Amino acid sequence: MILKVITSNPGKVEEFRREFADWGVEMEHARIPYEEIQTSELEEVVKAGMEELRSKGLRDFIIDDSGMFVDGLGGFPGVYSSYVQKTVGNKGVLKLMEGREDRGAVFKCCIGCDIRGETVIVTGECRGVILSEERGDGGFGYDPIFSQDGKLSFAEMPLDDKNAISHRGNAFRLLKDRLREVGISDSD
Ligand code: IMP
Repeated sequence: MILKVITSNPGKVEEFRREFADWGVEMEHARIPYEEIQTSELEEVVKAGMEELRSKGLRDFIIDDSGMFVDGLGGFPGVYSSYVQKTVGNKGVLKLMEGREDRGAVFKCCIGCDIRGETVIVTGECRGVILSEERGDGGFGYDPIFSQDGKLSFAEMPLDDKNAISHRGNAFRLLKDRLREVGISDSD
């Protein structure tokens, strides 16, 4: 089975490939633009994106919309995570966090999957903290400043270790459960 992973981010494709390797699913990277609507809910962005892609005739694909929601910043950057990363980046977020005691944050990942005529949408979360400095050179995006346990940043962890605890890893596990429920599994 081949699933197209529709994203401009090769880091996500690598995480999908790693997680679905044992299912014998081939993950094909596809850069197909779709509109990311302005809303405060990741799931609404994913639903609208899936409808648009399906209306273009696309089938058997995955999209993912993620965001980092910082408690002390009222959930910012949240749905604006991509824009904030592209403009002020990790250094800008660290600057906003200077002098703040509450460094709690939650990463959320909403995955939409169109597969064999079924539509499955799941959301995984990972709670952690914003570190006081960038650490590590692995991963992508906010990985150097986000830590689940307050010790290692995501960028300092091997990919399998990140997937084992991350928002996307948790979304993968929910996705696999839901796919099994609709009769699609690794034994297919
Ligand atoms: P999007 O889902 O690609 O729109 O991601 C929103 C923003 O969050 C982008 O700047 C990504 O780089 C960042 N992001 C998404 N997932 C992760 C992750 O697993 N680690 C670090 N940053 C992420």
